[in-house]
Amino acid sequence: MPQIKKIMVIGSGTMGHGVAQSFAMGGYEVAMQDSFPQALERADKLIRGSLDTMVEAGLVKKGDIPKIIARIHPTASLEEAAKDADLAIECIIENKDAKIDIFKKMDAICPPKTILASNSSMLNIFDFVETSRPDKLIVTHFYAPPQIIPLVDILKSDKTDIKNVEAVVDILKKLGKKPIVFNKPIAGYVVSRVMVAYQREIYYLLDNGYISAKDLDDAMIWGLGMRMLVVGGVQRIDFGGLDLSAKNATNTKDSTPLEYKPKMLYDLVEKGNLGVKSGKGFYDYHGKSEAEMCHDRDVRLLKLLKVLQENDITGPVL
Ligand SMILES: NC(=O)c1ccc[n+]([C@@H]2O[C@H](COP(=O)([O-])OP(=O)(O)OC[C@H]3O[C@@H](n4cnc5c(N)ncnc54)[C@H](O)[C@@H]3O)[C@@H](O)[C@H]2O)c1
Repeated sequence: MPQIKKIMVIGSGTMGHGVAQSFAMGGYEVAMQDSFPQALERADKLIRGSLDTMVEAGLVKKGDIPKIIARIHPTASLEEAAKDADLAIECIIENKDAKIDIFKKMDAICPPKTILASNSSMLNIFDFVETSRPDKLIVTHFYAPPQIIPLVDILKSDKTDIKNVEAVVDILKKLGKKPIVFNKPIAGYVVSRVMVAYQREIYYLLDNGYISAKDLDDAMIWGLGMRMLVVGGVQRIDFGGLDLSAKNATNTKDSTPLEYKPKMLYDLVEKGNLGVKSGKGFYDYHGKSEAEMCHDRDVRLLKLLKVLQENDITGPVL
């Protein structure tokens, strides 16, 4: 597996400065490039402000801030930033032509060893980016603010060398990130796709006067969010029962009908795999009883509830 030691971040805007900060906090040297000097100045201010917030939260020691800042090397020169880079992550504007151009430059300027990555939100770079090193082309999609949010989506093409994927996953884990590797590219990844679906319902409920914005957010936080934090979206179906979900999916009278017929769900129900209560659903519980499963889930839910109740950290930030 290639060793990643030196990072290059191209574009130091909303995402780039936070990506650079994440690597610097993890102890890595980062060249932070932007073609606009004002962007580099803004990035420096934002990084310092974010580090102060981390000190306030007890996650960074005040005395460590100068060391972290010293690991970030701002520059307007792509050539200077590319020197000896093991991993180059572009965080420039979301524009196809701009991405084509920057990858052409990265490929020409970076050493042959450099893994080239994109932070693109929606563009499938594998469809249009051309480089001499498709085995080293990858997507690392961070979430704002990237210095805090753990999830990083990893996309590869069928030409990407899995060793390079593993190297990127490895360094992200060392930063405390939660990288997830997709089997094949898809626009919007998991989070944006799910958000599109739930936002449709949010607009519907608000537009039709069913509920206030605050009460809707309380429902999302205390009903949906809490359970999502413990069991995610798929295992929640296993706990609720696949038979019930299958019934709800076909109920077009009382709830919004699904436009998509969930094949995997129907197949599992047909085989009698109804979730936790039958020992198997989307997951296999290997003989663990329903009572044991509920106990283990509830211990986690209660721990989370205690943290939320003891700290004033939920609800709209006003
Ligand atoms: N903003 C988000 O919440 C978010 C989340 C995930 C992914 N993304 C993706 O990350 C990328 C960056 O988004 P952003 O919100 O940080 O954009 P941004 O506009 O805040 O920052 C882009 C930066 O890139 C610089 N830049 C533009 N062209 C350049 C070039 N050719 N060379 C060097 N620097 C250049 C700009 O000066 C700017 O500072 C996009 O692909 C976006 O889709 C954004």
